[in-house]
Amino acid sequence: MSLVVAAPMAIVELANAQLQQQAAAAAKKDGGGHELEDGAADADTSTTMGMSCKRSEQQQQLVESSSSYDYDYGALMKGVRHLSDSGITRLPDRYVLPVSDRPGVGLIAASSTAAAAGGVGRVKLPVVDLAGLRDPSQRAAVLATLDDACREYGFFQVVNHGVGSDVSGGMLDVARRFFELPLAERARHMSADVRAPVRYGTSFNQAKDAVLCWRDFLKLVCQPLREVVPRWPQQPADLRDVATGYAAASHALFMEVMEAALEALGIPAPAAGGGVLGELAALASHMMTVNCYPACPQPELTLGMPPHSDYGLLTFVLQDHVEGLQVLHAGRWLTVDPVPGSFVVNVGDHLEIYSNGRYKSVLHRVRVNSTRPRISVASFHSLPAERAIGPAPELVDDEAGNPRRYMDTDFATFLAYLASADGKNKTFLQSRKLPLHTSS
Ligand code: OGA
Ligand code: NI
Repeated sequence: MSLVVAAPMAIVELANAQLQQQAAAAAKKDGGGHELEDGAADADTSTTMGMSCKRSEQQQQLVESSSSYDYDYGALMKGVRHLSDSGITRLPDRYVLPVSDRPGVGLIAASSTAAAAGGVGRVKLPVVDLAGLRDPSQRAAVLATLDDACREYGFFQVVNHGVGSDVSGGMLDVARRFFELPLAERARHMSADVRAPVRYGTSFNQAKDAVLCWRDFLKLVCQPLREVVPRWPQQPADLRDVATGYAAASHALFMEVMEAALEALGIPAPAAGGGVLGELAALASHMMTVNCYPACPQPELTLGMPPHSDYGLLTFVLQDHVEGLQVLHAGRWLTVDPVPGSFVVNVGDHLEIYSNGRYKSVLHRVRVNSTRPRISVASFHSLPAERAIGPAPELVDDEAGNPRRYMDTDFATFLAYLASADGKNKTFLQSRKLPLHTSS
C-alpha cells in the first residue's frame, strides 16, 4: 500500500521572534563551548507576575545556602515545589544540565547556522475533531488527518471531544491543590515501587538521574479503578472523586481514538468484542501522572522533563494555559501552543511497535519558566502490562516490502531495560528494533 503523506495543512509554525533571537544568542554564546550566560536563552515571554512571598527564617537559610550550592541529596528529594516555595534565586548544581543539553540550544544537530535559522519554534498541532469522527460523512477525512499526524508528528490535539470543562478543569484544579498541600502530606505517598498504585516523587527517575529535573509528580494507577481508588490520596478531600471522573473520561476518549487509529491503519474491525479493541475493553493499563513544574529561578539551565518518548499506546495530556511542552520535529524543538479545552495526544512506543513503525513515538520534553508554575496531567493508556506487544500481523508482509520491524515487548522487558539504563531518549524503543536487511 502506498500512501502519500500530504503536507499537513493544519501545521502552522509560528515564527516567534523572541525565541529565534534567543536561539541566535545562545548559538553565539555557545559557539566555542562556553557557558551560556544566565538568561541568554530564557524563553519565558510573560510579563512578570510579581511573586511576593514572605520568607520564614528557615526559608531564608535555604536561600542563603543555595548560593553556596551545598544541598544534600536528601534536601533535594523534597522536590522542586519545596525549593521554589523557599524562594531560591539560583538553581542548585544538581539541576544544571550540561551546556549541550540545555533547552535554549534547542537542536539535535547543533550548528550555529541552524540555530540562527531557527532551532526552536512553535507549532499548532494537527487538529483531530472528534465531532467530525462521529459524523459518518466526515469520518474518512478526520481519519486521514489522524493518520498524517501520527506518521508525520506522532502528536495531534483533539477538540470537540465531549469531555466537559468541569471534568478537565476540575482535574487541573485538584492537581494544583494537591501540590499546595504541606510537604509532609504529599510525602506520605513517596514510594520506590514503580508498581505502587500511588507514587509521589520528583525529577524523572529520581534514583538514577545524574542531573535532576525541575518537576514533582503524583502517579496514580487507574486500573482496575474500583480497586485502586481506595489507595489514592485522601487529601485534597475531593481528589478521589474528581480524579475518578477524569480517569473514566480519559479512558473512554482513549478507546474512541484508538478505534479510529486502528481503522486509519487499515486493521479491520473485528467481530464484536474481538481484536485489540476487545482486549482493551476487557482489561487495559491506565496510569495518570500529575506533573507540577514550579517557577524556576534559572529555567534556561534545566528542563522540567528531559527528552523522552512515552511507553504505551497513546498518551493524553491535559495542560493548563502555561506553555512548556516541546515536540521534536525534523531536528527542531517546537513548543506546543496550549489550546484551552483540548487534549494533546501522542503516539507511544507500543503504538509505534504495533503499527510496525508507521506511527511514530516521538521525543518530547518540557521547558520551565521563571514566573508561571505549570500543571499538566498525562494519561498513559495501553494493553495490560503482561501482554506482549508486537507488530500487528495485518501490517507485516515480507513480500510487499513490509518486514517485521520490532521484537515483541512487555512490561517486564521494559523494567529490565530501565534497571540497566537511564530510560531517557528513545533508547528503549531502539532496543526493540530489528535490524533491517536493506541495501541502502
Ligand atoms: C509525560 C509528558 C508532558 C507535559 O508526562 O510523559 O510528556 O506537558 N508530559 O507535562
Ligand atoms: Ni511524555
